[in-house]
Parts: sequence; structure tokens; C-alpha cells
Amino acid sequence: ELKGSKSPLIGVIIPSFRLPFFADLIQSMQMHVPEHIDLVFMGATDENLEKSIYALVDRGVDALIFGRPIPKHAAVSQFLNKCGIPFLSLDQSVDLGAKDRVMVQEKQGGHLSAEHLVALGHKKIALLMADTMTDNMHQRERGFVETLTQHHLKPVARLQTALSKHGGLDVADAVIASGATAVFALNDEIAIGLIRGLYNQGVRVPADISVVGYDDTDYAEFTVPALTTVRQPVQQIGIAALNLIIKRLENLNRPQQMNMLDLQLIERESTGPAP
Ligand code: RIB
Repeated sequence: ELKGSKSPLIGVIIPSFRLPFFADLIQSMQMHVPEHIDLVFMGATDENLEKSIYALVDRGVDALIFGRPIPKHAAVSQFLNKCGIPFLSLDQSVDLGAKDRVMVQEKQGGHLSAEHLVALGHKKIALLMADTMTDNMHQRERGFVETLTQHHLKPVARLQTALSKHGGLDVADAVIASGATAVFALNDEIAIGLIRGLYNQGVRVPADISVVGYDDTDYAEFTVPALTTVRQPVQQIGIAALNLIIKRLENLNRPQQMNMLDLQLIERESTGPAP
């Protein structure tokens, strides 16, 4: 017989279960959560976000972790503060005004990608962005463009597409038409779809076009060619978020904490010298 549990319940709200980055994040939290804590995961769109928050609060959640942006964050944070429910922001929810945050050096991620491509001799570099850009992705973009500028370069094209493999596939023709010899895609999903799209058109990666992704999800080392990408410390993000929110539950008045984590470029097969 199941009995009601008195364990603290932490709700984690993410934008989508389909993005492997968030699947990895969930996995990390499930692996590292202490036994006395319960977790509940919820995927929310802009439209049902507020409803999801109310539903979790209604069912007695003790704290929330947001991995997605909160459109009306002032109202949301007022509501949560009134209910005495602490919340932490990570990844896409950088602008939330939460008590605690876990962040990565997103600008540095864009910088690492640009330096890598410039060092390989690329001058015509395209940027593949999401059609809905969140703050963290804008920081990647900024780091990338600033580094190109330092090398007296600018992107030959900035293309926006869906944040998915299909998004990358759909934009392959536009990438080819741009004349780019290298591409930085703002996440692995777009990069992987692009590699397939280029292959379909007989374009060789990296001999004709080099591709860099972002995230280092578990697909990255299995694509042909294996994907060069900026690795997110997804295990540490999960661990840091749990640590901070648990400490917060122990002491609601503790000073605001922020953990800033580093990124790393993982060089595989999808990048090579400029043709
Ligand atoms: O792959 C999903 C992307 O959206 C990741 O780059 C992650 O940082 C999120 O913001």
C-alpha cells in the first residue's frame, strides 16, 4: 500500500522533453538527488506555463527549478514569494530574478567555437540560430560574433530555424547558398540535422563545410562524422542546482547564490581546415 510522503518535493520545469540536453539534465538530477527528496518534472510551453506553476504549487511543491524562460517573470516571482516557495533558475531562465542561479559561461562557448574555426583558416562562417532565441542563446551568439570581430570577420549569414534536427535539415540549402565553409549551430540538434541535409546534397563535412554544435548531447559522438561541439557540463548543472535548492530549503534567508560553470570545446570529426 502506498502511503503519503512527507519528503520535500522539488518541481523542475523544462521547455521540452524532446530536447536531449534536457533529457540529460533530468537524468543527472535523478542520479544525484538525495533519497529524502522527491522530484517532479514538467514540460511547459509559454501558453501553459502559468497553469503548470499553479498546478505544482497547488499540489504542495516545496521549491521550483526553472530551466525555461518565464514570460511574466515579475508576476510569477511575486506569486512564488508570496507562497514562500523558493525557486532557482538555470539555462534558458537567466533573466528570472530568482534567488539562486546555476549558469554556464555561454559567451565563452561562442568564443571557443569561433576561435576553433578561425584557427582552421575559415573566413566564411555562418551562424545557425533558433527561431526563438532565449537569453542564454543570445549570449552564445554574442561571444561568437565578438570573437569573429576581433579577427576582422563577420558571419556570412545568420540563419534562424527550429531548435530541432528538422530545423537543421531545413536550412541546409540556405547554408550552401551562403557560400560558408564553416557553420556554428547554436545547439547539437540543429548541427546534426544540418549534417544530414548537407549529406543529402552531396556536400562533404568537413571537407567542404565544417560544422560545430553546442551541448555535447550523447548523439554527438555517434554521428558520421562525429560532431565537434561545445560541451555543456550537464552533470554539474544538475548537481549544482540540487545542492543550491536543498540548501535554500534549509534556510530561506540565506544570501543569494550563483554557480557559474565552465564550458569546453570537444574536437571531433566534423571540423577541418578551410577548403
Ligand atoms: O538543446 C537545447 C538548448 O536549449 C541547449 O543548448 C540548452 O542550453 C537550452 O537552452
